[in-house]
Amino acid sequence: MEKDRQQWSSHISFIIATVGSAVGLGNIWRFPYIMGENGGAIFLLTYLLLIGFLCVIPLCCELLIGKIHRTDTVSAFEKINPKFKWFGWLCILTVLLIPCFYFVVGGWIINYIWIFLSNNIPDNFTNYFSSFSSQTWVPCILTLFFLFLTAIFPYKGVNKGIEKANNIMMPMFVIMLFIMALYAISLPGAKEGLTFMFKPDFSQFDKQMILTALGQALFTLSIGMGAVLTYGSYMREDTNIVKSAYTLIICDTLIAITAGVMIFPIVFSFGVTPSAGATLAFISLPEMFAQLPFPTFFGFIFFVLLFFAAITSGISMLETAIASFINQFKMTREKATIITSSIIAIISIPATLSFSILGDFKLLGKTFFDFLDYATSNILLPFNTLLICLIAGWCIKSLWKDNFGETFFGYAFNILLKFIAPIVLIFVLISGI
Ligand code: TRP
Repeated sequence: MEKDRQQWSSHISFIIATVGSAVGLGNIWRFPYIMGENGGAIFLLTYLLLIGFLCVIPLCCELLIGKIHRTDTVSAFEKINPKFKWFGWLCILTVLLIPCFYFVVGGWIINYIWIFLSNNIPDNFTNYFSSFSSQTWVPCILTLFFLFLTAIFPYKGVNKGIEKANNIMMPMFVIMLFIMALYAISLPGAKEGLTFMFKPDFSQFDKQMILTALGQALFTLSIGMGAVLTYGSYMREDTNIVKSAYTLIICDTLIAITAGVMIFPIVFSFGVTPSAGATLAFISLPEMFAQLPFPTFFGFIFFVLLFFAAITSGISMLETAIASFINQFKMTREKATIITSSIIAIISIPATLSFSILGDFKLLGKTFFDFLDYATSNILLPFNTLLICLIAGWCIKSLWKDNFGETFFGYAFNILLKFIAPIVLIFVLISGI
């Protein structure tokens, strides 16, 4: 363990920060539309089973590795075995690539907050969104501005920056989410929307849906890139891993479901198809807000809550890379923050330009923005998670026995970790490619 390593000042701060990391655009923007595309309730049921029984395993592993080694991602894998140091760097590469498209969406959010705040609501959001995102400068500057706002907190340190930001923003986020959900269920389409969410349609059940559910579960828990490991490394000695893992899963899932409760009644009130896809948050929803009572107020609240969700996740992405840079290159936190942000800035600029001048530049038939999303979510994320399971299961001696003892949970954990999780992850990986 490093000397003078910072620690969360309380257990609750640790939980809030990890929930802040997990709850992001994945919950509010991705979960509802993926659920819409995959048959609603049956998807939810599959997702709950997968996250509760399977994804909890790599989640516990990352937390355990963080707690045992109490250091950054690269050093932690190096300590397990110097042969695994490259894998630590692969996690850092992943966590550096995600913000390069995630923060572009962050820039859009800032723009939409401004539209609703200044009451400059456009008549047609389809036209508005395509003309806005295809500009060269504005999306680029807003992305960099979002990056700047995010970087302030890790720059200030674990307690003074990250912990404070989460302790303020997460409660506000939850309050806004509940206001929006209550507003949504008072709308005429509420009954239809909630039926869609909670009444399973078994005909939609297929292999592709299971894989989608699993991919979403890994993404939303921020597993497979050292983010959980890094936050776990600041945890207090007396923290219970399994309890923390399930608290995180329950909070994350409840928030994702509440986001659905907020979105589907609105969607059904207007007769839009729930599978409107990625454009749901930036075209369909704002268009509907504009036609509902108090459009400025609810539109504003919706984008501010999206902003809080994105920034608290962004903070943890930056912190994961920063913690490794500090230790590996022996630099100060301030310098590491500036370097991390500069790398992200350089890669995210072509991602913002994917919607304008770089629209014809394709990698594997995808624009640079879509390519980053695809490479991280479909390939690096399951691959890294697979390796974490293999390393934790086969290369750390008696991880399960030391931590869970010879209990039923201990045995179940061991079997899931060594055999079941790797096999499932290999399937996800193959289908993702
Ligand atoms: N979990 C985040 C979300 O749901 C996204 C995410 C993926 C993430 N990987 C991460 C957040 C790493 C922080 C760190 O939106």
